Amino acid sequence: MVNSPDSKISLVFELENGIPSYTIFRNKNTIIENSHLGFILKKLPALDSNFKIISQKISTFDETWEQAWGEVRKIRNNYNELLVELEQKDSLKRRLNIVFRVFNDGIGFRYEIPQQENLNEFAIMDELTEFNLAGNHSAWWIPAYQKERYEYLYNNTPVNEMDTVHTPVTMKSAEGLYLSFHEAALTDYASMVIFNHKENSLKCDLVPWSDGTRVYTKTPMKTPWRTIQIAENPGDLITSYLILNLNEPNQLTDLSYIKPGKYVGIWWAMHIDLNTWSSGTKHGATTANAIKYIDFAAKYGFNGVLIEGWNESWDGDWVKNGSIFNFTKPYPDFDIKKITDYAKSKGVKIIGHHETGADVDNYGKQLDSAYKFYKSYGIDIIKSGYVGSRMNHKEWHHGQFGVNFYHRALTEAAKYNIMLVAHEPIKDTGKRRTWPNMMSREGARGTEWDAWDQNGGNPPNHTCILPFTRLLAGPMDYTPGVFDIMIKSKPNNRSNTTLAKQLAFYVTIYSPFQMACDIPENYEANLPAFQFIRDVVTDWDDTKVLNAEIGEYITIVRKARNTNEWFLGSITNEKAREFEIELNFLDKDKKYKAQVYADGDDADWKTNPLSIRISEIDVDANATLKFKLAPGGGQAIRFYLLK
Ligand code: NOJ
Repeated sequence: MVNSPDSKISLVFELENGIPSYTIFRNKNTIIENSHLGFILKKLPALDSNFKIISQKISTFDETWEQAWGEVRKIRNNYNELLVELEQKDSLKRRLNIVFRVFNDGIGFRYEIPQQENLNEFAIMDELTEFNLAGNHSAWWIPAYQKERYEYLYNNTPVNEMDTVHTPVTMKSAEGLYLSFHEAALTDYASMVIFNHKENSLKCDLVPWSDGTRVYTKTPMKTPWRTIQIAENPGDLITSYLILNLNEPNQLTDLSYIKPGKYVGIWWAMHIDLNTWSSGTKHGATTANAIKYIDFAAKYGFNGVLIEGWNESWDGDWVKNGSIFNFTKPYPDFDIKKITDYAKSKGVKIIGHHETGADVDNYGKQLDSAYKFYKSYGIDIIKSGYVGSRMNHKEWHHGQFGVNFYHRALTEAAKYNIMLVAHEPIKDTGKRRTWPNMMSREGARGTEWDAWDQNGGNPPNHTCILPFTRLLAGPMDYTPGVFDIMIKSKPNNRSNTTLAKQLAFYVTIYSPFQMACDIPENYEANLPAFQFIRDVVTDWDDTKVLNAEIGEYITIVRKARNTNEWFLGSITNEKAREFEIELNFLDKDKKYKAQVYADGDDADWKTNPLSIRISEIDVDANATLKFKLAPGGGQAIRFYLLK
């Protein structure tokens, strides 16, 4: 048995009739009932039973490390570890180690298969890991094995009505305990999805290759960590850094090019049909338009301009055929040299774009030249895209094939000192700790769904679920900041929020690279509200969740790195709310100005989304702030020190 440092969580490892299993208790209550561990291998006897224990070692670890960038500066990594070494009792004597780490905020465990005589190259057909729940909890989940990858609205059902689901999958027990299941450090292995295989018993399902095999591997090998975050209130899931703690420390020596920031882009105009990615009269990525966006970014203090549709490949059916993409040939009306020189002279970065159509054979062949090409123009941040339901029309994005491709794209980017933001990515498992050039990613329904969803966009509760599910995995490039909420050019679509809620997203949705997605004209038409997006930062010293209920509401405050400013974001689903917030997170004995961007008294996401009230008040750490959120609304506040 091994306990968490605060002794609240205990994990018991057992070998019953040679079958490995574990049980988890919290405050003596069973959280995870006896659950089996092991593997089924291809054409080899299983690694699931007939084991004996060779050794069990308990050790303790306690270290505080600093994030290169992030939602907090310092993270304490404190756990007790149990390493169990097992050996099968037959003549092959094959060995399997299982490592359990028990933290105050949950547990992580992984399998390690050491180098050994009777197991060298092999294939995994099934990972038998179970998570036997102590009840039929209420779960928030999205389905796995679907065409839109992770881009689904979350379901909230009892566990026994769950499909096969992606992780993180988050649950609330009848006793009010919150659990979230995910994985950390997913490398050279298949993603874990989870299904309900017996009553309240979840089982790991490894996303297969097209030939049905789950993982091709060889000894010595380590699986990703299986993680269970455990919290008494949902906000504590958000400030749990267990997944990062289970990743290896930073491996990059030069971090000088890795800088969080904010960006605008030739992007939303394509999604709302004002421009096109393809050539022609509405082509968005023209030299003149790029210069206009660079001027806008420079004038209002943005670090970058994303430009999509710049390369000569968007005229065919790229969704069906990603092999048409060429990553070194700009359209004739896109003068990359002139644009990048101009951007440099204005102190603005151009953010490159590689849409691959999920044809990674084609992309993989060009990866090196594509990175070199951009780098030769000083571009050191690239948004990549993998639209498609299978890679190369064959493999899941989430299987070992896809996992390995994303890893290659990331590690090769690091060789060129290039930062990445991935769309249609593999799920985040905390690898940004090891590879801090992995800035942000999509991996859930973002703002773009507001522009073209047949059912009219992300509903008001979607962004009240993301912080407790998708965002537990890591930062998301949600691309907030819609100011023309009703989207004039698309009468059947809109953002289902108030304007103040769009501002609050900059705090509630964490991303080190945060977009102001709307077109410059819409921001210039409302400069007072735009001021919040100009002021908010994307790199933080500290993060606190002041109140939260999954799918209902959340209020987060974050302290900017290197300044004494704090920012607050509060959002609600379709219900109006009234909150009273203590400002005791502010420095004592200091006076602050609070710039408040609140829903107007008559604001309502459905009928009056643009009503916003902007005001300023003097506050200090003893103050309490009362505020109201409109239905589907939000509030954003900047606190800065009075001189
Ligand atoms: C989907 C991405 O999420 C979006 O941001 C991008 O504009 C399009 N693909 C085209 O690459």
